[in-house]
Amino acid sequence: MSQRRAVIAGTGSALPRTRVSNAELAQRVDTSDEWITERTGIKFRHIAEADETTATLGADAARKALEAAGIEANDIDLIVLATATPDNTFPASATKIQKMLGIRGCAAFDVAAVCSGFLYALSVAESMIRAGSASKALVIGSETFSRILDWEDRGTCVLFGDGAGAVVLAAEESERGVLATRLHADGEHGEMLYVDGGPSTTGTVGKLRMKGREVFRHAVVNLAEVMTETLEAAGVGADRVDWVVPHQANARIIDATVRKLGLPAEKVVVTVDQHANTSAASVPLALDVAVRDGRIQRGDLIVLEAMGGGFTWGAAVVRF
Ligand code: UT7
Repeated sequence: MSQRRAVIAGTGSALPRTRVSNAELAQRVDTSDEWITERTGIKFRHIAEADETTATLGADAARKALEAAGIEANDIDLIVLATATPDNTFPASATKIQKMLGIRGCAAFDVAAVCSGFLYALSVAESMIRAGSASKALVIGSETFSRILDWEDRGTCVLFGDGAGAVVLAAEESERGVLATRLHADGEHGEMLYVDGGPSTTGTVGKLRMKGREVFRHAVVNLAEVMTETLEAAGVGADRVDWVVPHQANARIIDATVRKLGLPAEKVVVTVDQHANTSAASVPLALDVAVRDGRIQRGDLIVLEAMGGGFTWGAAVVRF
């Protein structure tokens, strides 16, 4: 039955100019293309230069999403940016993006849920649209994790990249749109993936620290559970899913998670080989790639999922 829903009207993405291969990375870090490929599936990552920031990348992705949606920037009444690497501690980078897009007056704020940030941002924006407090929203995931990596720590620095993805959500009476979202967090596991600095503790930005093996184990369990929960909330079986657009942290996590749900690998969008883990940008970036190359079509049933520091995790079921 048709009801007021948040429909994805357009997608966009942006990547820094500089692309770094595993072999290039191995020239400055004690690692190898073989190790990175075998353990993670990653081949390349994009690394931001000085003039490329979370806000500039986010604004570029947003412009492309607006163009794809055929919506003027000034019609946007809500901007939600998911990021763990804002340009400044404050103001919210969403307000910088707002300025770059030439928009004034609409609500604009950042959401901090690290790698699952885009799912959190999408859920907030679609709730506001369903409640009637917004009608055309930009939901953006943008990150410059290269700036918080410890380039001496080969266990983490090879895994991440920079980039941005965005969607325009438009209120429509429709059977399409966001059908269900589910979000979770468990602060007990905060020390497994965190940044060792911050304005209120060290007064510094800090560097990313991760217990990779433990994160891996939790990720597979949590992601499979939240996908099942969200599909149930949407009232659709896993066999009806056309595409899974997972968080792109590690090809092995993606494989293990979709196998638990009994979904075939051909229905999964994988970009981790090209972009590495871009945290909150990873899901909208992968979504935009699969929309632009024609794999994801209007009317397809898609599942988005992510898990990250906190821990936080979540999923969304969308009729595209
Ligand atoms: O978005 C959510 C955030 N993050 C994730 O989802 C990441 C989750 N975790 C992972 O993806 C994997 O656990 C990693 C890719 C981080 C690691 O893979 P692993 O199979 O769990 O390897 P490991 O941590 O058990 O390390 C195995 C070995 C170690 O050597 P020893 O102690 O066995 O001799 C490491 O020192 O690999 C070594 N190692 C490396 N070797 C070459 C660690 N990093 C590297 C490296 N190059 N970059």
